[in-house]
Amino acid sequence: MSMESSRKLVEEKNLRHIAFIMDGNGRWAKKRGMPREFGHKEGAKVFRHIVDYCFNTGIKNVTVYAFSTENWKRSEREVSSLMTLFTAYIKDAFEEIRKNDARVIFLGDKNAFSGKLRKQMEKLEKESEKGTYILNVALNYGARAEIVRAVNCLLKEGKTEVSEEDISSRLYTKNSPDPDLIVRTAGEQRLSNFLLWQAAYSEFYYTDTLWPDMNDEEIDRAIEAFGARTRRYGAVV
Ligand code: FPP
Repeated sequence: MSMESSRKLVEEKNLRHIAFIMDGNGRWAKKRGMPREFGHKEGAKVFRHIVDYCFNTGIKNVTVYAFSTENWKRSEREVSSLMTLFTAYIKDAFEEIRKNDARVIFLGDKNAFSGKLRKQMEKLEKESEKGTYILNVALNYGARAEIVRAVNCLLKEGKTEVSEEDISSRLYTKNSPDPDLIVRTAGEQRLSNFLLWQAAYSEFYYTDTLWPDMNDEEIDRAIEAFGARTRRYGAVV
């Protein structure tokens, strides 16, 4: 498999949205006798590269799970190193989005972040509003909280009965189609409160590769596996 064959499959199989649970940064660092933060730093580099690669294959929506509502329970040192990485990414992203015709959307409750970081997140969302390629970055995200928030929005609007479309269109992911493929690295096979509603018909791809070791070939393999699946959406074909 190569970029060219991936491009073909993305087009043929209509792969519109890929999502990643970026797991294994801590283990990657531990294997090298380094602190967990070192793994996150490498993970952030790999994240930038993988997002570019996916967009280059023609996939129009990429979502990454960067920080869950549970991740605040990690040590202060680890949380603070992650915040530093997010801040650095956002700073660089203003230029990246222009070059790549990309739009960045943050999934999750921004109120938990420092005022300065929150403002930068909002500014990046606003400035990239017109971009074609959507990058959803889940930060302080939890899928159940997202669904509850959508329902509360609907109640506030005065609705007494709701449709699936009502809920979908009030989720943080409202600008993207549901994910076609969800990739989780580092050998774990669970969803961990990620995109519960949106994953109803997603295909899953698991790899033992730790996130900082992810590369183009792994993405090609995931796309190839997706290409070999038959999606039935509950029907008989
Ligand atoms: C899971 O690995 C990873 C995270 C909780 C953080 C993900 C963050 C990044 C990849 C870097 C920054 C991203 C952006 C958007 C700039 P883990 O720490 O749970 O690994 P372990 O299971 O081996 O301990």
